[in-house]
Amino acid sequence: MPENQPAAAVRQVPSQGPIAKSPPLKDQKPFDPGESIAMLLLRLPQLVKIHQPNNQIFVENIALFQQTLATLWAQSPTLSVRLHRGRLYINERRLSSSQALTVTINKLGEIFEAGNYFGFRFTKVEQLPDQDIIDFIKDFNQSQTQPEPGVWLNTCREGSWVTPILDKDFKIAIIITEEGSGKPRPVMWTSGVRTLAVKAKQSYSRALAALAGINEKLSGSGQSTSINKPKRVIQDMVESLFQNENLLLSLSTIRDYDDYTCTHSVNVAILSMCLGKRLGLNKVSVMTLGLSALFHDLGKIDIPIDLIRKTTKFTDDEYELVKNHTLFSVLRILKINAEHTLKSKLLVSPYEHHLGIDLTGYPHNGRHSPLTLFGRIVAITDHYDALTSSRSYRPVPISPEQALDIMLRIAGTELDPLLLKVFINMIGIYPIGTLLLLDSHEVAIVSETPPSAEEARPMCYLLDFENNEITRGDYINLAAKNDHGLFQRNILRCFHPTEFGLNPTEILL
Ligand SMILES: [Fe+2]
Ligand SMILES: [Fe+2]
Repeated sequence: MPENQPAAAVRQVPSQGPIAKSPPLKDQKPFDPGESIAMLLLRLPQLVKIHQPNNQIFVENIALFQQTLATLWAQSPTLSVRLHRGRLYINERRLSSSQALTVTINKLGEIFEAGNYFGFRFTKVEQLPDQDIIDFIKDFNQSQTQPEPGVWLNTCREGSWVTPILDKDFKIAIIITEEGSGKPRPVMWTSGVRTLAVKAKQSYSRALAALAGINEKLSGSGQSTSINKPKRVIQDMVESLFQNENLLLSLSTIRDYDDYTCTHSVNVAILSMCLGKRLGLNKVSVMTLGLSALFHDLGKIDIPIDLIRKTTKFTDDEYELVKNHTLFSVLRILKINAEHTLKSKLLVSPYEHHLGIDLTGYPHNGRHSPLTLFGRIVAITDHYDALTSSRSYRPVPISPEQALDIMLRIAGTELDPLLLKVFINMIGIYPIGTLLLLDSHEVAIVSETPPSAEEARPMCYLLDFENNEITRGDYINLAAKNDHGLFQRNILRCFHPTEFGLNPTEILL
């Protein structure tokens, strides 16, 4: 029997072994302590209201709670059970959600949110009496009748084996299995906001806000709105771009599924400006390109939201309507207060971004003149960001490598092949934010793309993890060679951070 096995647990359930060998629950599913504790945090508060302490079901559930805690405490004497963005984390490790667990998480999330806290910390005790658990569950129930449940619970549980988590900041852990060894290796990630490059991140938020403001003004009774705010934000981004391209490029890895159209538009603006700079455009032209790209999908406010979020294939009529968003964008931009010369330049990429260089696509107008540079740039950046984002009809995004592969197949017909080559050079084979597992048993995050795509060995930060704390480690060049002329480190595998629900900007900036 493990030394932390409580007596009550032994009385009620068979003794536990390693997690995989633990006894099945009543429904014969393998015992999962993470899932178990979430279920019990919902179940016990109900049972304590309707049963006496000696009731058989109640006693069994208390014992199961003890067994669950003992199993989890065997892994770590300080246990945290936390909800973050609708996902459950046990000791900073995300639990994969079954359908049943999703329902549990949602219900727990409602309780935690209403109480203004994020979960619970359980500190290991050798013997946890039944009565201590009952007292906690009763406090948990009583807290829900208080004006500030989290604060109340924290005061009354202070110094005990279970306390509510009131702080937002926490670390997320992912487990990567090293190929060949099958040995899991924990990688922890701090999600705290870094002070470095805060300005660049703020400009991203300001761009989102400026676009949302324009959307709101334009969709409300046909009002007009000024271009000043978005113009100032884009000007700030241009300044940042001309100082440090990688800083801005890493911002374009931000993904927000709930606010897809706005984040997509800001990302397309950033990628377009970066590509424009690579092509040698001056600051004024890059700014105009950025503004034009920011507004490329503005006309989507004229398309019913249900259609934008539709998860199944469009009918012919629906597709015809959606295709109109390019023209709607033009009409919306015409309503923005801006000087005529600037406005006329802003219309181009919204109008052209769904036209191929072979003039297929839409809107079809029988023209024969070639597409403008802005139109060809935004067609590429729009394709890339849309393919690498989660969409209502494709919840799992396509990896950057796959996206570039798809785009290469339509180069020469839809996309400009020369511009695409420059774009791939800029993005790199391993785009900024990609996680790399190295043959040196290290994990790195790509921070800069190599000078040329042919080189394909990016600059990275190694991740240091000590005392359960991960920090951004040494800055390395994967192209570095040893005295024998061999590469010092090789890439075994790469991961897209979104596979783990991570935001690379929080690590890199
Ligand atoms: Fe579009
Ligand atoms: Fe778009």
